[in-house]
This record gives sequence, structure tokens and C-alpha cells, in this order.
Amino acid sequence: MNDWRKRSIQEAEDYIRLHQSDVKERYRPAFHASAPVGWINDPNGLCWFRGMYHMFGQYHPYSAKWGPMHWGHWVSSDLLHWEWKGVAMAPDQDYDHAGVFSGTALVEGDTLVLMYTGVSEMQDGKLCQQQCIARSTDGIHFVKDPANPVIRISDLPPDVPPRDFRDPKLFRTADGYRAIMAARNEQGGEILVYSSPDLAEWKLEGRYAEGIGRMLECPDYHRIDGEDVLIFCVIGLPEEPGRFPCGHTAAYMTGKTKENPVGFQAESFEAVDLGLNFYAPQALDGPDGCILTAWLPGPSGIVPTDELGHQWAGVMALPRILHVKDGKLIQEPVGEIRKLRAKKQCFHEVLTEGVPLKGKHERCSEWVMHLKADREVVLKFFKGEGPGFCVTWDPEADTLTMDRDGCGYDMSGKLPSKVTANLGRKSGEITLDLIVDNCIAELFVNGGERVMSASVYPKDADDEWVLTSSGSCEAEVTCYDLSPQEKDV
Ligand code: FRU
Repeated sequence: MNDWRKRSIQEAEDYIRLHQSDVKERYRPAFHASAPVGWINDPNGLCWFRGMYHMFGQYHPYSAKWGPMHWGHWVSSDLLHWEWKGVAMAPDQDYDHAGVFSGTALVEGDTLVLMYTGVSEMQDGKLCQQQCIARSTDGIHFVKDPANPVIRISDLPPDVPPRDFRDPKLFRTADGYRAIMAARNEQGGEILVYSSPDLAEWKLEGRYAEGIGRMLECPDYHRIDGEDVLIFCVIGLPEEPGRFPCGHTAAYMTGKTKENPVGFQAESFEAVDLGLNFYAPQALDGPDGCILTAWLPGPSGIVPTDELGHQWAGVMALPRILHVKDGKLIQEPVGEIRKLRAKKQCFHEVLTEGVPLKGKHERCSEWVMHLKADREVVLKFFKGEGPGFCVTWDPEADTLTMDRDGCGYDMSGKLPSKVTANLGRKSGEITLDLIVDNCIAELFVNGGERVMSASVYPKDADDEWVLTSSGSCEAEVTCYDLSPQEKDV
């Protein structure tokens, strides 16, 4: 039973102060954002404001489980060192007492405008979702608009249920503002497009992407390298091995449009990340380009840091720079990651069956590999009493498989623990950049043509990594220890 009473920012801050030291840090990532105590999910309100990156996120301070949603807040100058700034918004109003759900930010001169979903309980006891606005001039303290909610359930088309109308993406157009929201109708998930001249009066412009999955969540919309990119999550997308590996998928479409996804001609529809746990991505347009992050472990059902009583849960993905090439997203880790590279081991060897390559690694490590082979090659790390975390490249099948089964704490809940991605370029060569930070592994393939991310909670992992091949493999491998104290290599 959820308790939908209003809660203030002060109440949350007091709780955090009192309970922060109860948290167990064993799986805390060193350079990925996480909460000081409590649960986080989706990144929200990503923006570049007054010379800093700001990231907000869905936050429930009072346990390591999902609960009445607040917005937590971090800032960073380099997208790797995130400073916690506390609670930006709490469910403290009649229209958002059951949750301050996901949304986005828009910088308007000296003002940071947030648009989010306020969830409230209606008189019949059912929940409804409406769109609200908050503003700040210092980037820390936010004032909710007295006219909230600005897009109400009375503005909904009659076939959209009021409890599934959320996650506004706000952006400017030549004639004012647009906001796109996730919703559903009898056919399945859809995106509703609203327009406004002034952020106060809103009107429904149209509906887009109708009938995808059961429901959509977290739409986002950017122009990248001259292409329009619509990003959203799909609940209940039919699985397609190698392409859409599970039913909860963060997907994107590229195409062309005039500042308005209604009438958007989609040229491609793909998963953003082909790994195990990547969900609710959001991007920002900043001085370094379009940068995307997301929430892990996503709607997995099982979160070891909660089950183990560590009192925190959830990590934001390593920010990635986005480009579009041939209608497909290219995602590369932000360049600043190179500054964390400390000790390194380099190898250039030809492996044969039964003659592996071995080395030692830390809990925060990076492997940069260039492999040439015609038979299967496997990298294993975080080996404990189980098989370890396995990444398998099969050049014949042109696939890459990530397998966490038997590595550390079991997470086999709603999401799979083994997944295979099609690579789409049979060439006998591959480049891999694998970045591991305690409880998260992110694998960038062939310069960001594919990315696979996973959560992993190793038990008493030993520190050996092993690369094996079932044929002949020419391997160039550099393994770095990553240290959050900035170092130039
Ligand atoms: C996605 C999501 C959003 C919603 C938020 C609630 O993970 O379900 O649709 O706004 O989480 O925390």
C-alpha cells in the first residue's frame, strides 16, 4: 500500500542527513552518479546551465525501493565527477502528492525551466498524471508554477487513460514551445504532441507513434548532425533477438521533421543499447554536443543493493556523446574518461586455442581491445566462484554476447541475464572499449556503432581477467585501472 501523503524537501533532507552513514558502499560506482541514500531511477532535467552540467533524477530517499517520487540533483563540470546537490523537488502539492515524475529542462536566459509529471490521487482513488512547470534562477531552488498543472487531464484525447500520460520533453520552436508526452490508447503506446505560445496555454497538436508496445515512457527529441532523433522507452515491445533483446526497451527513431514529431518520417527504429539493464535515457545539448545518459539496472525487479540492505539503489549510465551516421546512432563515452586512466598493461599477441591471455584488473577498469579472429573469442572478468562476467565475440555469426549468468548476485528478475547483439558488419575484426565501475559494465563496440550495458554485483570476485580464443586471434589489448582522481596519461 502506498502512502500518498505530501512530503517536503526538508523532510527528505533531514532523512538523508540522518541515514547517509548507514549506507554500505561496497558496490558504489566511482565515476557514475548514484544517490547518497535511497533509490534512483530515470535521469531528468538534463541541461547545461550557468557553466555546469545539471542532472536531476527520479529519487525516493526513504528506502532502496521505488516509492513516492522526488527529484534528486547532481552537478558536474566534466560529466564524470558528480556532486550531489540535494532534493530539488518533493511531492508537496495537491497535484503532485503521489509523485514528481520524470521530465526535462529548458534553459531560458537566466532561468532554468523544468517540466515534469505531477501524479495525484483523484476522488475515486485512481491516480492521474498531469504536466507541471517549475522554475529556478540559481539552478538549485525551484518554484512550482502557481498555475500547475499546465496540461491537465481535461486536455487529453478521450481514449487516453489519465494514469498513463507522462514524462514531458519540453523544447522551443520558432513559434513558441512544444512538449511531447508518453501515453497509450487501445492500440498501444503513443506520443502526444502539445504546443504553447507561452508555457501557460497548451493545445494538442497531434499524436505520433501510435500502437508501439503497450505503453511508451520518457520521450526525448534532439537534432543531431542534421537528423531528428526521437528517443523513447517501450513497455511490451515484442522481442527480436539481436535487435530488441527484451520487452522493456529504450529505442530511437531517426528521420526528418519540422520541429514537431507529428508527421515525423522515421527512417530507422533501433534499440539505443543492446545490453541487459539500460532504461529511460535522456540527452542534453551542451557545449560538448548531444550527450546521453540513462538509468541502470532499469526495471529489473531485483536490485542486489536493496536485497543486501545497502540502502541505496540505481546508477546513471556513463554519459555518451551522440552522433548520427547513415541514420544510426553512434555513441561514444565522453572523452573525459581518458583522464581517469591510471596504470596500464599492454599486450599484442596471437592467441591460439588453449593459450589464453591473462592480466589483473581493479573494480574500476577499462579494456581497449582490437581483435582479429575467425573463431569465437571470450573475455571473462569478475570471476569469483562462478564463471565470471563473459563477453563473447563470434565473428562467424557476427554477434556479441554479454552473459552475467552466475556472476555475482543473481539479478534474474524481469530482465534477461544473457543477451546477444547483431553487429551488422561481418569483417573478422572488432574494436571493443569496455568500461567497468564496480557495479556497472558498459561495452562500446566498433567506435560506438553498438553499445551494451549491464549491471553486475560480483561477490568475492578475484582480480584476474582472461581472454581465450577457440582459434587463432590477433589481440591488441590495453587494460587500464581507472582512478577517479584525475590523471593525464
Ligand atoms: C520510467 C518511469 C517514468 C516515470 C518514472 C516514475 O522508468 O516509469 O515513466 O515518470 O519512471 O518514477
